[in-house]
Amino acid sequence: MIPTLEWTSEGVRFLDQTKLPLEETYVLATSYQQVADVITTMVVRGAPAIGVAAAMGVALGVTRSQAATIGDLSTEVRQICQVLAATRPTAVNLFWAISRMEELFYTLERKPDATIDGIRAAMIAEALKMYDQDIAACRSMGAHGASLLPKEGGVLTHCNAGALATCGYGTALGVIRSAVEQGSKIQVFADETRPFLQGARLTAWELMHDGIPTKVICDNMVASLMRRGKIQAVIVGADRIAANGDVANKIGTYGVAILAKEHGVPFYVAAPWSTIDLETAHGDDIPIEERAAVEVTHHAGKQLTPDGVGVENPAFDVTPAKYVTAIITERGVLRAPYTEALQSLETAAVNG
Ligand code: MRU
Repeated sequence: MIPTLEWTSEGVRFLDQTKLPLEETYVLATSYQQVADVITTMVVRGAPAIGVAAAMGVALGVTRSQAATIGDLSTEVRQICQVLAATRPTAVNLFWAISRMEELFYTLERKPDATIDGIRAAMIAEALKMYDQDIAACRSMGAHGASLLPKEGGVLTHCNAGALATCGYGTALGVIRSAVEQGSKIQVFADETRPFLQGARLTAWELMHDGIPTKVICDNMVASLMRRGKIQAVIVGADRIAANGDVANKIGTYGVAILAKEHGVPFYVAAPWSTIDLETAHGDDIPIEERAAVEVTHHAGKQLTPDGVGVENPAFDVTPAKYVTAIITERGVLRAPYTEALQSLETAAVNG
């Protein structure tokens, strides 16, 4: 399995995704501040992976804390959570994971027999549980979504929603993996995904690792390939899905969705429930991260654009729900109207 991130006795170990595919190197974060840095600099990226990374960051902060009393530790936990929450604004998994860790801490600290060591052990166990649950969710999405993909044909994906973006197996790439395991003959087309090149560098690397036929295409080739009938389905991941089914994902996804609609190609989104944000009513309310201009003006340290040119670099866009054929989650496959479909699966889960 691709070791995206791992809890170790020395700290949290990350496969450095900024170096792939040319170098397979690791970064060991030994403090929560280093985990925050690893998330901001995209050593680890992808919504589910940054959620679990943040949970491990909280556990690491609690483990390494010098606090002498539970009260002091409580003050530190607030600080740890604030630092981790300030890393990247769009993927809701980050905030979901931090809240889950914070709530656990506040439950534990109120117990009359609470000890610092007991809290530490429980926080580590919770982060590890989230890691396992993420892999299980990916496997389940794969099982639910595989039959939606063609038995034979081209499947386009944008960015990287694979093992590298999760704790293993992947969301969109998990569905592709599952379809291939069931015998489908799929030719994957991976958009290169300017400017960070998650498709060209990461999706291509991990699918080749599994022997799944993959071709990298430039982002501007999608329309032409669809018109020539080479793409039978699109499947992408998500960073946040609003209560009405609008989907925030990597910049460029919206354009792909419009092209899919125009060419009659189904457009699927695969995401765990931790990506669904029922508190945000509409996609327009999702905060979109703006990243540094240098990601657009330079590549691998080489300048591509004239000195001083203006740049926009939104890292994500929002695809309105009307372009989404289905949302694949670990709880099942949802179809429009999404407001009702999302709410009814949530109610069912809350009622057990
Ligand atoms: O900026 P990134 O690389 O973190 O963006 C990742 C994406 O947009 C993915 O498609 C999304 O997080 C889903 S990953 C299962």
